[in-house]
Amino acid sequence: ASGQEPDSARGNGGELHQIAGGETPTLTTALGTPVSDDQNTLRIGERGPALIEDSHFREKIFHFDHERIPERVVHARGYGAHGYFETYESLAKYTRADIFQRAGEKTPAFVRFSTVAGNKGSFDLARDVRGFAVKLYTREGNWDLVGNNIPVFFIQDAIKFPDLIHAAKQEPDRAFPQAQTAHDNFWDFISLMPESMHMVMWIMSDRAIPRSFRFMQGFGVHTFRLVNAKDESTFVKFIWKPKLGMQSVVWNEAVKINGADPDFHRPDLWDAIQSGNFPEWELTVQLFDQAFADSFDFDILDATKIIPEEVLEPIPVGRLVLDRMPDNFFAETEQVAFMTQNVPPGIDFSNDPLLQGRNFSYLDTQLKRLGSPNFTHLPINAPKCPFAHFQQDGHMAMRNPVGRANYEPNSWGLGPREDPQRGFRSFADAEEGQKVRLRAESFADHYSQARQFFNSQTPPEQRHIAMALTFELSKVQAPAIRERMVSHLLNIDETLATTVADKLGIRNMPDPAEAAVPTRDDLPPSPALSIIEN
Ligand code: HEM
Repeated sequence: ASGQEPDSARGNGGELHQIAGGETPTLTTALGTPVSDDQNTLRIGERGPALIEDSHFREKIFHFDHERIPERVVHARGYGAHGYFETYESLAKYTRADIFQRAGEKTPAFVRFSTVAGNKGSFDLARDVRGFAVKLYTREGNWDLVGNNIPVFFIQDAIKFPDLIHAAKQEPDRAFPQAQTAHDNFWDFISLMPESMHMVMWIMSDRAIPRSFRFMQGFGVHTFRLVNAKDESTFVKFIWKPKLGMQSVVWNEAVKINGADPDFHRPDLWDAIQSGNFPEWELTVQLFDQAFADSFDFDILDATKIIPEEVLEPIPVGRLVLDRMPDNFFAETEQVAFMTQNVPPGIDFSNDPLLQGRNFSYLDTQLKRLGSPNFTHLPINAPKCPFAHFQQDGHMAMRNPVGRANYEPNSWGLGPREDPQRGFRSFADAEEGQKVRLRAESFADHYSQARQFFNSQTPPEQRHIAMALTFELSKVQAPAIRERMVSHLLNIDETLATTVADKLGIRNMPDPAEAAVPTRDDLPPSPALSIIEN
């Protein structure tokens, strides 16, 4: 053997085999038994029946038969990379989160970008929201900021999520469309959910067909809290801004690219990182207090609303650099388990009803998808800080408590104990109220910010929105659904509504949809917190 290449030898059928030698290791079974022949099953005679005692064959096929795990119920198609987050300066005034205590600190990170509606094998340039999920392996536990490239969402309450996703994905009787393209079910649901109108403007815009992952913003969407060492809370919105700026393709390009190269976004990230051209994002935060929150007519707990950047400027607090591709796509990008409820001490939730629902959903779905409560033992999911607990056993347990004690309190003085100072303490918000199923009045205005977004677009961008709506709704077969959408558009922008209606051949304009709350054009003047004072 040359030491670089395996030896070759002729098998008894005359075919060329490669065999171990030099630095080429010996092939073994999963349990380490060296394999002599990986070309032929064990048979009686050259042309006889196969033998069931061929355990190498059975193990190989058995393992292959079980290679697939369920794809994610949403965000099935994704692509990830490793990197780090670097903190600019201490935010100790606002949070005790360890990641924000020291300027220059670097925290390992893993990011998975994804489309939402398409199946795992669907194409990259679908018109769709992009997932922007960041796992930060902090010294006090993993922090998962599971965001999207769009700052708002379709629905206000997580109880509607299964309906939204059922309507967006393939229709149950016909199993298409695979990725999000026009279809009656989606637009039927959307047209019956006026709260989705702000998000509709974003997904019909160029934002929904990004040129590459490297040119996308990311948003935590919900209002979260930062909590400092004195247990004081500040509301926060998280926004990732790409150093390269934002770029999108236009729909005609997307259609062609999807046909020519459905994987378009993958080699873009791969090539950039492999050539040392590391993509980078700045993490910015919008910080505000309760008085500021109360100054708006909309609710800061409503995920269909943004706090406009003109009203509250996002402050840069660190940067994210992606500098390493996974060694193995399945082990890392597929098996990574993001969960909104993974927050370290110093970061906490708000009462956003979408966020609260997500905090249940992600743990539940990871168990289904990864199949064992021990999915945190997988290297991509395990914390990189010291950890100690009494959880044990279960499928695929790779770590168990060591020694006699697997419970606490115990008299042996063994094992870890709680730490009231260092440990996670939920922000002690005062809550009172009746047990009800009721949407707050402050969640009722569905059109103001949709209009604000449309007005913020340049004329070509507005044309793209009109063209996207026309294209999508032209594929909708039920006239009532088209008209219902136009009746919502009338509450957003009359020219947009009439343009789309004209192109769809709607002769009699419908009445504007009933708006639950009087719409308003102006942004409220508001006193922002002065941020990061030393
Ligand atoms: C997956 C974001 C709302 C349930 C994901 C992923 C992202 C994401 C980025 C992919 C994670 C990855 O790359 O592995 C968001 C955002 C939301 C939202 C930004 C709204 C602001 C919801 C809601 C629910 C939900 C309301 C359910 C109540 C799920 C589930 C998965 C998922 C079940 C699949 C997770 C997996 O199998 O790994 N979401 N999501 N999401 N999301 Fe959401």
